[in-house]
Amino acid sequence: MKILVVGGGGREHTLVWKIVQSPRVEKVFTAPGNAGTAAIAENLNLHPTDIEGLGKAAEEKGVDLVVVGPEAPLASGIVDYFDSLGIPIFGPTKAATQVESSKVFARNLMEKYGIPCPKGAIFSSYSEACEYLQEQRPPVVIKADGLAAGKGVIIAGSLAEAQKAIGDIMEARIFGSAGDRVIIDEYLSGREVSLIAFTDGKTVSPMVPACDYKKIGDNDKGPNTGGMGSYSPPGFFSAGMTEKVTNDILAPAVRAMAKEGITYKGVLYAGLMIVDGEPMVLEFNSRFGDPETQVVLPLLKTDLVDILMAVVQGNLDRVKIDWSSEACVGVVMASAGYPGNYKTGFHIQGIDNIDKDVLVFHAGTKLGDDGIIYTDGGRVLTVVGVGKDMAEAREKVYRNVPKIYFKGCHYRKDIALRELGRLNSET
Ligand code: AMP
Ligand code: GLY
Repeated sequence: MKILVVGGGGREHTLVWKIVQSPRVEKVFTAPGNAGTAAIAENLNLHPTDIEGLGKAAEEKGVDLVVVGPEAPLASGIVDYFDSLGIPIFGPTKAATQVESSKVFARNLMEKYGIPCPKGAIFSSYSEACEYLQEQRPPVVIKADGLAAGKGVIIAGSLAEAQKAIGDIMEARIFGSAGDRVIIDEYLSGREVSLIAFTDGKTVSPMVPACDYKKIGDNDKGPNTGGMGSYSPPGFFSAGMTEKVTNDILAPAVRAMAKEGITYKGVLYAGLMIVDGEPMVLEFNSRFGDPETQVVLPLLKTDLVDILMAVVQGNLDRVKIDWSSEACVGVVMASAGYPGNYKTGFHIQGIDNIDKDVLVFHAGTKLGDDGIIYTDGGRVLTVVGVGKDMAEAREKVYRNVPKIYFKGCHYRKDIALRELGRLNSET
C-alpha cells in the first residue's frame, strides 16, 4: 500500500513511524512532514489545509489510504473531499468533526444524550453572558465555541477576569468567528487524563490512557503550551475506568452522533477530568492527541494499518487490538522563548548518540540542504522511553535527553514524576 499522512508534527512522525512497520506498506508520503519523517517517508511540500492540492498529489502518487493528523483539515472537510474522489481516508467528516470544531455542538450533544460533563451555559450575546456571570462563583471557565489553536479556554480566577475574557472573545473577537458564541463552564478540579479510541461508527476500541503536561514549566508553572510531555498509563486510571469511560462516554457519543444522522469514523479523543472517581468530559477532539500519540502508539502491538483500514471499511469488530502493559514517557524539547516568540534555524546535535531503544519523534525540525537537521518550530522533538514500569521508562528518557542539544533548548524535568511518588508511597 501507499499511504499519505497529513501533518508535520510529533504526532505525525509517530504515525509514520508506526505505519512503516506494517508489512502491508510499500511507501509512505507526508505532507508537509519534518526532518524525522524525511528519513522514513517522502515529504511533500503541501500544507495540511491545501485539500485540493493533497487530492491531486494523492491521485498522482496512487495513494491507497490517507491518514489525517491535525484538526484544521478535518474541520475544512478533507474527509468529505477525499470521499468524493473515491480515495480511502481515515478521519471523521466535516459534520462529525463538529465534536471538536464546535464546543457548543459537543455540549448540546452531551446534554441531550446524558454524557457527563461540567455544568455550563451557552451564549451568543455578550450582555447575556455577563449577566449570567454575575450569578456565578469564581473560578469559572470561559470557552470560545470554535477552533482557537488550543488557546480558546480561559480559567478565570475572578469575575472581572472572566468578564474580560468574554469581552476579548465576543467583542474584541481575538479568535474571530470562533468567538461568535461562548460557553461558561463550572470549574472542576480533579485529575486530567486523555482516553482516545478508534471507531468505525459502530465498534469503539479504546487505546491506553495518557496524561499530557500543558504548562511550560515544572510543577505546572507558567503559560500553556501545545504540550510539553506525556506518559502512559497513569496509575490512577484503572482498566475498569477505561471500560467505564468507553461504555459511559465514548460509545454513547458515537451512538448519539449516529442518531443525529452522523457516522463518526476515525479517532475520538475524550479529554477528561476525574472528579471523585467520576469521569467528566472537558472536551472531545476528533483526532489523535499531540503529544499523547508519541507515548500511546509505541505501546500498540497490533499492525496500525490493519486498524486504520478496518475503521475505513467499517469492520473494526474483526480486528483484535493488543496493547503492551509496559510504560511510556515522552519529554518535549522546545525552543528558547516558546510558547512565546522564538527563533528557528539552530543546528540540532546529538540525536545519533542516544541509546538505540529510545525514540526521537521530530516536530519543528527541518533537514537542511547540507544534510544537517535544524530547529524549525517551538516544540522541536519528543524523546520517548519505553520501560517495564514508569521508573524505567523515565530513567531511559532523562538519561538521553541531555545528549541532544540545540541553542536555547529547554524541557520539563518532571514528566511522569508524580507516578514515581505514587509507587513509592504505595510500597
Ligand atoms: P479544553 O480545550 O476544553 O480541554 O480545555 C483546555 C484545558 O482547560 C483543559 O485541559 C483543562 O485543564 C482546562 N479546563 C477546561 N474545562 C475545564 C473545567 N470545566 N474545569 C476545569 N478545568 C477545565
Ligand atoms: N494534547 C492535547 C491535544 O492534542 O489536543
